[in-house]
Amino acid sequence: MYNHIPVMLEEAIEYLNPQPGDFIADCTLGGGGYTIEIAKLVGPKGKVLAIDLDETAINHAKLKTAQAGLKNISFYHANFRDLKRIVEEEFSHSPLPRLAGLVFDLGLSSAQLEDSARGFSFQKDAPLDMAFGSLISERRTEEIVNLTPVSELTKIISQFGEERFALSIARSIAKTRSVRPIKTTSELVAAIERAVPGVYKRQRLHFATRTFQALRIATNEELISLEKLLASLKDVMAPGGRVVGISFHSLEDRLIKQFFRNEARDCICPPNFPICSCNHKAWLKILTKKVITASPEEITVNPRSRSAKLRAALILPTFAKASAGE
Ligand SMILES: C[S@@+](CC[C@H](N)C(=O)[O-])C[C@H]1O[C@@H](n2cnc3c(N)ncnc32)[C@H](O)[C@@H]1O
Repeated sequence: MYNHIPVMLEEAIEYLNPQPGDFIADCTLGGGGYTIEIAKLVGPKGKVLAIDLDETAINHAKLKTAQAGLKNISFYHANFRDLKRIVEEEFSHSPLPRLAGLVFDLGLSSAQLEDSARGFSFQKDAPLDMAFGSLISERRTEEIVNLTPVSELTKIISQFGEERFALSIARSIAKTRSVRPIKTTSELVAAIERAVPGVYKRQRLHFATRTFQALRIATNEELISLEKLLASLKDVMAPGGRVVGISFHSLEDRLIKQFFRNEARDCICPPNFPICSCNHKAWLKILTKKVITASPEEITVNPRSRSAKLRAALILPTFAKASAGE
């Protein structure tokens, strides 16, 4: 059983606007919620490139889509940061078609969080491994926790977790690991518990949530992957194509927002430059002037959607000329 309710599915499909015959990348397959919907809409002449780092997600989705009789999906057990290579591999026959749509829905799935064999949850005792899949070293979380200097660990917990007790948590981890290495989620929870005040432990948000989130982001280099994915859009998207991104973390949302803003502008010189020297040309248009969030009804049914933020952009039709001339 792979349990995951797609977040803002209706809104994502509306902005993506898949048409029969389109080639579309779902960069974060997960439970296949988006992929299946898109595969139906693009029809037998279209195709979905479904990517995930997690082989469990891929295997589950292969079964589910076969049962649904969908044959227009190519599965890639890969990191979406390698999107350009994936598109080249898929369309190795030239000329390279460009994508009419691309969607990414960041973070981890409910199935991954609930899997008691994996180290994502502070509520389950598991080996300290927060890798999304085998393409990421399964020792990485353990190495970050046991080998990173306190100052660096504090930075990770504070930046990626937005945790105000980052320094004392990092110090407590260092004290614990000086006796023996921290190898399980429970040992990590205990170290965090020793570092935070009693009132923090009585709040609605579990006191280990932010530290676990930070370590997961660091383990999978999630912000670096997102930056690389965004940077590859110019190489893979077709003029008139649409990009839809859903994120759950303010740093990710900021990256997407700033990327869209920059690429939608004709000049990206610093404001104090008297004349433009960047020669930058806008190649996309922002479709979501204001960020889209889940409806109160969806949040009631699926509380996980509470922190989701959707942003979408259209690749300018004029981008054709620019890319043809490359
Ligand atoms: C929130 S889930 C996606 C859920 C999916 N939209 C659905 O409706 O079922 C995120 C998925 O992205 C995958 N993932 C996260 N970062 C990735 C990356 N850099 N490359 C490929 N897959 C990634 C995770 O393994 C997880 O399965």
